[in-house]
Amino acid sequence: MGDKYTDKAKSAGLRARSAYKLMAINQKYSLIKPNDTVLDLGCWPGGWLIVATRKGASKVVGIDLKAIDRIQGVTFIQGDVTKEETLSKINGKFDVVLSDMAPQTSGNHSRDVGRSIALAEIAFEVAKRFLKPGGKFLVKVFQGAGYMEFVNNVRKSFSFFKTIKPEASKLKSREMYVLGIGFR
Ligand SMILES: C[S@@+](CC[C@H](N)C(=O)[O-])C[C@H]1O[C@@H](n2cnc3c(N)ncnc32)[C@H](O)[C@@H]1O
Repeated sequence: MGDKYTDKAKSAGLRARSAYKLMAINQKYSLIKPNDTVLDLGCWPGGWLIVATRKGASKVVGIDLKAIDRIQGVTFIQGDVTKEETLSKINGKFDVVLSDMAPQTSGNHSRDVGRSIALAEIAFEVAKRFLKPGGKFLVKVFQGAGYMEFVNNVRKSFSFFKTIKPEASKLKSREMYVLGIGFR
């Protein structure tokens, strides 16, 4: 048996408990609006993709190392976001870039934080390349060495900035979500 959010997500057809984190952030900060174009990095199994389509996004592109079961209205690219061969398959610019990417945790805290920050930095590079001016960026990152530096770098590129710990995020987890609105 899963926890409250895992069970809820399954019965609501949302595939993953992480969908509730995005819904909570979306409700508070109007992240995804109808007709927005959305790029989701590290999208498997597709909870955030489903939330984006339900919010009325006009175009949703998801990327992951692992294949997902098809979702109507979503373009899926299987590949590694750190590789140019994957990024070269993305067409156009986006209103919203999301990244829930996480490394395979090893149990070694500082190694896991380092890998999480490296993935978050890559997500930020992708956002800078594919976001429209005024666009929005949401990225998951583990707190630890390098976290504040990352946060301060992201802050400089947006007119509004916030770090968020959603309720559906497990309390003991060190994950935080970094949100930038108004890309410049
Ligand atoms: C927590 S899951 C995402 C859950 C998703 N937001 C949802 O709601 O269904 C993180 C994903 O990041 C993916 N990932 C990690 N590193 C990646 C990389 N370099 N390129 C693409 N995907 C990556 C993993 O394969 C994993 O599926």
